[in-house]
Amino acid sequence: MVILVTGGSGFIGSHLVDKLLEKGYDVRVFDLIKPHREDVEWIKGDLLSKNDLFRAFKDVEYVYHLAAIADVNIALSRPELCVQVNEIGTLNVLQAAQSFEVERIILASTTWIYGRAEGIVSEETPIPPPEHLYTATKIGQEYLLMTWNKHYGLPYTILRYGIPYGPRMRKNMAIAIFVRKAMRNEPITIFGDGNQGRCFIHIEDLAEGNIAALSERARNQIINIAGDEFITINRIVNELRKIFGEIRVRHEPPRPGDFRGAIISIEKAKKLLNWKPKIKFSEGLRKYVEYVRCHS
Ligand SMILES: NC(=O)c1ccc[n+]([C@@H]2O[C@H](COP(=O)([O-])OP(=O)(O)OC[C@H]3O[C@@H](n4cnc5c(N)ncnc54)[C@H](O)[C@@H]3O)[C@@H](O)[C@H]2O)c1
Repeated sequence: MVILVTGGSGFIGSHLVDKLLEKGYDVRVFDLIKPHREDVEWIKGDLLSKNDLFRAFKDVEYVYHLAAIADVNIALSRPELCVQVNEIGTLNVLQAAQSFEVERIILASTTWIYGRAEGIVSEETPIPPPEHLYTATKIGQEYLLMTWNKHYGLPYTILRYGIPYGPRMRKNMAIAIFVRKAMRNEPITIFGDGNQGRCFIHIEDLAEGNIAALSERARNQIINIAGDEFITINRIVNELRKIFGEIRVRHEPPRPGDFRGAIISIEKAKKLLNWKPKIKFSEGLRKYVEYVRCHS
């Protein structure tokens, strides 16, 4: 059985590939760029080329569809590319999956689609109209999978990821910026009171959550895979103080669009997949700092 990972050379995909290989699965990466390791099969291809995709689907049983324009800044600066890759690219994956009669397609969606919801949000929480092109395309991807299931019976699982952090994360993400500033002894800028937060998830826990979703119980389900701690900006700074000692902080007024953040319920993942995050934020952050120290 081959498991295809589109976007397997990216941040999340590369960790998913590591875990799948560790567990003995036959893995194939479909990506424009080379995977981070040599011992995995790589089909170099573009989601926008049906020919490329059809080459990648031979003997595939499960597809993790992660390839996307995932950086919100690129999404906004290259809107046509974002819509093409995230929407038409997903449609192409669905058509290939249907032709090759794959068992299931597992989509990397995001808890960003809950928008400015506060309090506790679950998979049942209504999705508000999107405020960003990127989230519009992620909602669109979810609907494409559900529609394809209605039309052709193609089974799906939609995983709404919390915000992952850890080795190989993009350097423009808050945790990555804070860690590098702390290492250079530069002040960290906090916008607003610092009580805004997110349910960050360590990348290894996210990869494990993806693997748990291979369970038949995840068939045609939408499931949140997020951290179980609501981590505020102030908490990140305090954890960094435990590692680095004193850290200088500069306070600025809140930025337009900032919001407090919600607690993402992961009860469904716990019950259905018997999965829960194992890495506490303080431990995950230390591991990440170690990684940055070794790679800078
Ligand atoms: N990183 C996050 O904070 C986050 C949170 C929730 C959901 N997600 C979703 O998870 C998935 C992976 O995100 P990531 O952070 O690993 O992104 P990433 O940018 O690190 O990886 C995306 C990969 O897709 C590949 N790709 C892009 N366009 C392609 C195309 N046309 N054809 C083939 N490959 C192409 C890229 O080369 C890259 O390797 C995305 O679908 C993203 O929307 C990410």
